[in-house]
Amino acid sequence: MSITVSEGLFRLDTAESTYLFQKTAFGHLESLHYGRKIPVGDPESLRFKRELTHGSAVIYDEQADPVYCLDDIPLEWSGVGKGDFRTPPIEIRMPDGSFTCDFLLDSYRVESGAPKMETLPQSTGGEAQTLIVTMKDAVFPVYLDLYYTVYEAENVITRRAVLRNEAKEPVLLREMMSYSLDLCDRSYTVTTLSTAWIREAQVIERPLKAGTIVNESIGHSQHSGNPALALAACGATENDGDVYGFNLIYSGNHRTTVELSAAGLVRVTGGVNPHCFLWELKQGERFETPEAVLTYSCRGKNGMSQNFHAFVQNRVVRGDWQKQERPILINDWEACFFQFRQNSLLRLARQGKKLGCELFVLDDGWFGARNTDTAGLGDYTVNPKKLPNGLEGLGERVNRLGMRFGLWFEPENVNDDSDLYRAHPDWAIQRPNRAPSLGRHQKILDLTRKEVRDYIVENVSKILDTCPIAYVKWDMNRKVSDFTDGAFLHRYVIGYYEVLSRIFRPRPQILLEGCASGGGRFDLGQLCFAQQIWASDDTDPIERLKIQGGLSLFYPVSTMGAHVSLAPHQQTLRNTPLSTRFAVAAFGAFGLELDPKDLTPIERKSLKGMLNTYRKIRKTCQFGRFSRIETGDPHIVQWQAQSEKQTVVLRVKTLAPAAQWNDVVEVRGLDPEKTYALRQVESPLFVSGFGTLLKHILPVTIRSYSHLLLAVNKHFRMDDYRESYRASGAQLMAGIRLHRSFIGTGYSDKMHMQGDYSSMLLIITEE
Ligand code: DGJ
Repeated sequence: MSITVSEGLFRLDTAESTYLFQKTAFGHLESLHYGRKIPVGDPESLRFKRELTHGSAVIYDEQADPVYCLDDIPLEWSGVGKGDFRTPPIEIRMPDGSFTCDFLLDSYRVESGAPKMETLPQSTGGEAQTLIVTMKDAVFPVYLDLYYTVYEAENVITRRAVLRNEAKEPVLLREMMSYSLDLCDRSYTVTTLSTAWIREAQVIERPLKAGTIVNESIGHSQHSGNPALALAACGATENDGDVYGFNLIYSGNHRTTVELSAAGLVRVTGGVNPHCFLWELKQGERFETPEAVLTYSCRGKNGMSQNFHAFVQNRVVRGDWQKQERPILINDWEACFFQFRQNSLLRLARQGKKLGCELFVLDDGWFGARNTDTAGLGDYTVNPKKLPNGLEGLGERVNRLGMRFGLWFEPENVNDDSDLYRAHPDWAIQRPNRAPSLGRHQKILDLTRKEVRDYIVENVSKILDTCPIAYVKWDMNRKVSDFTDGAFLHRYVIGYYEVLSRIFRPRPQILLEGCASGGGRFDLGQLCFAQQIWASDDTDPIERLKIQGGLSLFYPVSTMGAHVSLAPHQQTLRNTPLSTRFAVAAFGAFGLELDPKDLTPIERKSLKGMLNTYRKIRKTCQFGRFSRIETGDPHIVQWQAQSEKQTVVLRVKTLAPAAQWNDVVEVRGLDPEKTYALRQVESPLFVSGFGTLLKHILPVTIRSYSHLLLAVNKHFRMDDYRESYRASGAQLMAGIRLHRSFIGTGYSDKMHMQGDYSSMLLIITEE
């Protein structure tokens, strides 16, 4: 049993964690423990003692208990105005017009699975168990249901709250979070993912000092604030120590607060952002919050990540593609942008096929007057000049090449220059008395309106049912403006989920990739519908190490769209080796974002070889047990993915130091007793990159600008030395001493020419 209740003590157990709370004499719920698994026993040592209180304490009921001060007690939920001055999870104007509220235990029940939510997507339940604790305000018939769903194997407890108004008078919600969790202070470091377009998911670490750290976004979950957050106790590393993780199954605007109070307690609250939020609840109405996902690991950040990865793969992502290896795709966006014709697309598809791609994706620009980003959004009529045989004709031709066909949509937005906007200007979100604010020249359609949702569902569904479409990329390229209030933003998200449900639930065979100007809406709400999300428009592998590495804290590799593009890179101008672009994208839902005709023949041949290798490691990379390996060197990033018989190790040198000729690679998680074969994936070196340095290994001098060098570069390559060993797991885990790196003292074909941005991909197979 993962949930047990006895004498007011509530106990939730996962495989590696225990969560305990107990009713106090007044009926509040006192948190006793969330963390390391502990056996059943007397919890007295887990309770804060209350012999006396501090000088500025507000006493809850002085006559009944002169030292009972809510500010000093770790609580499962807290009200307002009764002496707890920490961040409240709720702000509600009660029937008497005041914000004072005080929720006390009323009843509880345990259900199997996860009780169905009415408005929002949720985890899938299955063999989980749910504890529902009902609390009632001390004065008014206003009820609060706290849901705790326990996923034992994944080490996850999800929490959410529902407010029910049984009072005759309406109540007004100003703020209603999904959970509130109080922990003891352990000198935590708070980790969040933040920043901007093409720089998504950067890891931000802040020590928690007295006061509050806020992680939030406005509108929907955004580049500038992913809803996920981690708390690492003092001393925790990638592999050791206590780490808590928090996320939300929600794509709307969110807020998570972490507060360290004077009493040495840490309160975490998370849920819908209270920004401009006003929600009236009449008698008999209920408000449900998004489901929050909590995990704890004593195995460091990797332990936390692995819990989240298993949970997302097993309980969040669904549909036929839930656990299927993602097809290798070629997307036409960076190859063509808006300029294409059927023939050019088919040429691209054919070339992709030759390289080993399995899916061709037609991105933006196929409909209406969409020849730039200033027109066409909102319309669904195919551009007959570009696609004389329509989408159906293109799809069939792509299928005949032996590839699946995928299509881009951006259904939530509208350009003024579109037939839809001319017909229904009132469908766009704008205020009647103010000039609208545009983003990427477009407005957002009001998904709170049924006729707007119907329009999208009908048009997208019609295309999906008449064309052979196996994959959809659902884009959303602007932030919300001109909204009325936070309640509208929440209703928009509910409308958005309804649209996704109506389109994709009946078509589970479609692989859906979410996208919002890159990784602007990378969240668990999306992942209840989309099996993968485009992680960023930035495909520079060195930037992707940060983006995918950051995302890997909370999301599995299978969910991250990652493509190989051209170098120098279009946003960073960085010139990275093809092998590194490939190796980093291999830790993702892999694809190509380039025109193969911009590669030399030998680059194409090399890429084809890499894609061939990828098919042999893709399952491990996408669904294996993923870990970030600490290297101790800020310029060496190492990841590892492990399936039953195979381990894939990626090692990237972001900056190559001079005179470092001995390198050691550490591998983890092998069986010490078993024997393994290790081989390094090919790492081609294209000769033009060496310029006149070639004179050191050739009998003649070739100028870096000579035609000869360019001609040679087209057809010939050198190869970095490829490591290969057969050894026990114990020996490999003792550190693999690599062949020497080039440091300018000579050349041998048994050395690594590992300069800046170079990488090494190792495949270790159990024999
Ligand atoms: C933004 C996406 O992130 C890109 O991949 C591409 O689909 C463009 N939108 C198309 O407009």
